[in-house]
Amino acid sequence: MKTPNMINAKNRHSNQIKYTKYNIDLGNFGKGKKFFVRTYGCQMNEHDSEKIKGMLTSVGFEYTDDINDADVIILNTCAIRENAHDKVFGFLGVLKHMKQSKNIIVGICGCMAQEEVVINEILNKYKQVDFVCGTHNLDNILSILKEQIDTKKRQIEVLSYEGDVVENVPVLRDSIYSAWVDIIYGCDKFCTYCIVPYTRGMQRSRYHEDIVNEVKELVKKGYKEVTLLGQNVNAYGKDIYEDYTLANLLSDVADTGIERLRFVTSHPWDFTDEMVDVIAKRDNIMPYIHLPLQSGSNKILKLMNRRYTKEEYLKLYHQIREKVKDSSITTDIIVGFPGETEEDFEETLDVVNECKFDGAFTFAYSPRENTPAARMKDSIPEEVKMDRLHRLNEVVNKYSNEANQKLLNKTVKCLVTGISEKDEDKVCGYTENMKLVNIAGDKSLIGKIVNVKIIEAKSFSLDGEYIK
Ligand code: 5AD
Ligand code: SF4
Repeated sequence: MKTPNMINAKNRHSNQIKYTKYNIDLGNFGKGKKFFVRTYGCQMNEHDSEKIKGMLTSVGFEYTDDINDADVIILNTCAIRENAHDKVFGFLGVLKHMKQSKNIIVGICGCMAQEEVVINEILNKYKQVDFVCGTHNLDNILSILKEQIDTKKRQIEVLSYEGDVVENVPVLRDSIYSAWVDIIYGCDKFCTYCIVPYTRGMQRSRYHEDIVNEVKELVKKGYKEVTLLGQNVNAYGKDIYEDYTLANLLSDVADTGIERLRFVTSHPWDFTDEMVDVIAKRDNIMPYIHLPLQSGSNKILKLMNRRYTKEEYLKLYHQIREKVKDSSITTDIIVGFPGETEEDFEETLDVVNECKFDGAFTFAYSPRENTPAARMKDSIPEEVKMDRLHRLNEVVNKYSNEANQKLLNKTVKCLVTGISEKDEDKVCGYTENMKLVNIAGDKSLIGKIVNVKIIEAKSFSLDGEYIK
């Protein structure tokens, strides 16, 4: 049994990182069995689930999206806020029930697996969990699962130091048009509220040749869109190259001819002029940037260890708006961080009023075990947090609606990704700047980039019709 340790997880071990290739051959031990994966959290986790699916199918397991049909159930978890935890623990209750009537194996992966408190709780209270595999050794999940099946004993394998950068991990992608591609793992920023530097470890970039080759393969297979992934993509290359950055990588990946290239998430501190220029210059780099602000108060930004001031954020923001034609910019904002006064909060509202973001993900601050902010004084009462969240959302929604209204009667290009969730007689897709459109058009459009005329604009989506 290997369990995590949050103090060790803070240390960085750059000389230990090895670049290796996936090399696990365990025959066909999953043959005849089915598995189900439930994913919580961010796009990195979505993509990790595609790897879990790829690895399990490589040894004969079959994927099912009907949980009642599964022999193995895996929860790929998120630790970012307390409510992400609550959802997983709640679902473990449901699984305990299922286990009473059926012989199933339950596994936990992802960021919660990296937390000491969670593992202690699982060890003491959640006997229904048969195995736990951390984020750093995900490539070893098959050995852990096989050991559990062979011995019937509970397996816990979580490392508190970075694993290797492993290439060629089998992957079963959810889409045949749009693909996630990891470029950098982990995060070294240590924002004081955030658990990610502990659960995902040190910043580790993949070699650019490996990334470009993966995208070339995707282009050959007919993929239309690639999204480069990292907790902080703008730090790409800093750990392994002297002078190769995200700007170089974007340019090299754009050269593969992929029709749409996206990247997420950006940290304002690492965003250089060269990066803005390459996004502005290349037609196949999509004009959509997710640029977390977190707070509009310099005092709070400092307490958060964000490394930029409100003024620096605004300068970058306006530079992107000026240079990148028809861009859309979205953001993340936290309210109720320790010490946030009404004046600090109003400064955040001021920045939102100036930026008029296309959209924002807004959160009430949630203390995370062992992070510096969790030890800070002046915590904000829950009702004050909720009041600020509510006021912020009103302003944010006003501007997303305005941004959508600007598209009314315009014809835009959409990558059609599937059937509309709102109306099964329609399809849906995303504009170049990442706005969701429900489209009157038939299913044969799925997977294509088509012209769509916007006929109605709402706060969170657009309605359009296919134009031949
Ligand atoms: N409490 C609330 N929100 C958080 N985020 C990260 N950590 C916390 C926390 N402890 C938000 C940030 C980040 C987004 C992914 O989640 O806004 O950008
Ligand atoms: Fe959640 Fe962050 Fe982990 Fe993604 S990296 S799964 S958002 S805690």
